[in-house]
Amino acid sequence: MTLRNGWTPDSNGHGSRDGAAAERHSETTPPQPATFAPLGTTSPTEAAPALPAGAGIALPAEAAASLPAGAATALPTAATPALPTAAATALPTEATPALPAGAATALLAGAGIALPAGATVVVTGGTSGLGREVVRRLAGDGYRVITVGRDPTRVEALRIQRGTAGPHNVAIAAVGDLSTAAGCRSFAEFVAAQTDHVAALINNAGVMSPRRVETADGLELNFAVHHLAPFVLTSALLPLLRRFPAARVVNVNSAGHQTSLGGHHNPTLDFDDLQSRRGYDPFLAYSRSKLANLLFTYELARRHGTELVVNALHPGVVRTDLGRQWPRLQVAAMQVFALSPARAAGPVASLAIGPVGTQGAYYDRSTPVRSSPPSYDRNAASHLWQLTEALSG
Ligand SMILES: NC(=O)c1ccc[n+]([C@@H]2O[C@H](COP(=O)([O-])OP(=O)(O)OC[C@H]3O[C@@H](n4cnc5c(N)ncnc54)[C@H](OP(=O)(O)O)[C@@H]3O)[C@@H](O)[C@H]2O)c1
Repeated sequence: MTLRNGWTPDSNGHGSRDGAAAERHSETTPPQPATFAPLGTTSPTEAAPALPAGAGIALPAEAAASLPAGAATALPTAATPALPTAAATALPTEATPALPAGAATALLAGAGIALPAGATVVVTGGTSGLGREVVRRLAGDGYRVITVGRDPTRVEALRIQRGTAGPHNVAIAAVGDLSTAAGCRSFAEFVAAQTDHVAALINNAGVMSPRRVETADGLELNFAVHHLAPFVLTSALLPLLRRFPAARVVNVNSAGHQTSLGGHHNPTLDFDDLQSRRGYDPFLAYSRSKLANLLFTYELARRHGTELVVNALHPGVVRTDLGRQWPRLQVAAMQVFALSPARAAGPVASLAIGPVGTQGAYYDRSTPVRSSPPSYDRNAASHLWQLTEALSG
């Protein structure tokens, strides 16, 4: 069965593209640990043109190596049924004014087409709130979803749900912590053991910590989870993303990058104190980490816009567990008008699997909008990129 973009599931639920020659990468090369370096030299103004229509990257026939220790729940080995997808709400197909100056504006062939059911989508933070609803929706639409949790109870709950009532095409990594570079790479290994490609990566995991917490890498937690994790995970999954033409990267950001809950407006990064060691303000730390994630989004679009479709979004204010460490009354007051996770999940899923007409854009749910002025600072983006490469080892 050939799906709309020519991607054909084989008997293992993997895919191949009819008659397509591998463009840049050997079809037989197994996923390698990646850094962004090899392709990271394209300057925004040098961005190469979009891939020619029909150019595809053939998916390798063989699945990746055995499960890493600790991997808990493998996807079923039988072919994932290619269900018709109902989730693909088309997002704007016009180039939008939200594109950052210098972004690789040429859209890749394939971006305007919904991903075929059966394609693999990786979602971080799939054990709670928004991420859990995105997992549910995508799995229900027939995608192969791979996710990870940190809290054993939540992981177990998701697994039980999957086992009894939920779709079976969800793989859950055993308890995994994405706050360290090693944790991200370990999750990427789990992913590589489950699938031979990643058609979409949704960097969704998030925290809001009232106190300053330092990770095992010595980084501040907001910075680590919202910025370092998407950076390292995208890098580590790059070989698998490259195996799907015009694979998508969706960064779940926040309007908080622009106005923090503490009232900071258009905050900038403090490069002398990226880890918030001086006078930790939880709202400012959250805002700045989301700003860092947005700078990363735009820089990724500039550097890799010839092979990935990269966008970010604010999902709305959503009734989730993000405020779990805050006083209940305070959280309840803020959530009076909040969206349900099920409602908020739609635009996130659509940006990952639906036809997408933007590259390096920021959405307020389904609408492309301009982000804060500091988020378009290309010097800051490039400086942060270099620092993050050094921080992630
Ligand atoms: N809720 C809102 O109003 C709102 C508004 C704007 C943006 N957002 C963004 O939406 C995203 C989803 O958050 P949510 O509101 O759905 O919150 P949530 O209910 O607290 O879910 C957060 C998810 O991230 C996971 N996570 C956190 N730290 C992790 C780590 N170190 N390693 C692995 N997984 C980790 C959590 O795993 P565990 O279950 O194991 O803890 C959980 O699955 C976040 O990026 C957040 O910033 C939310």
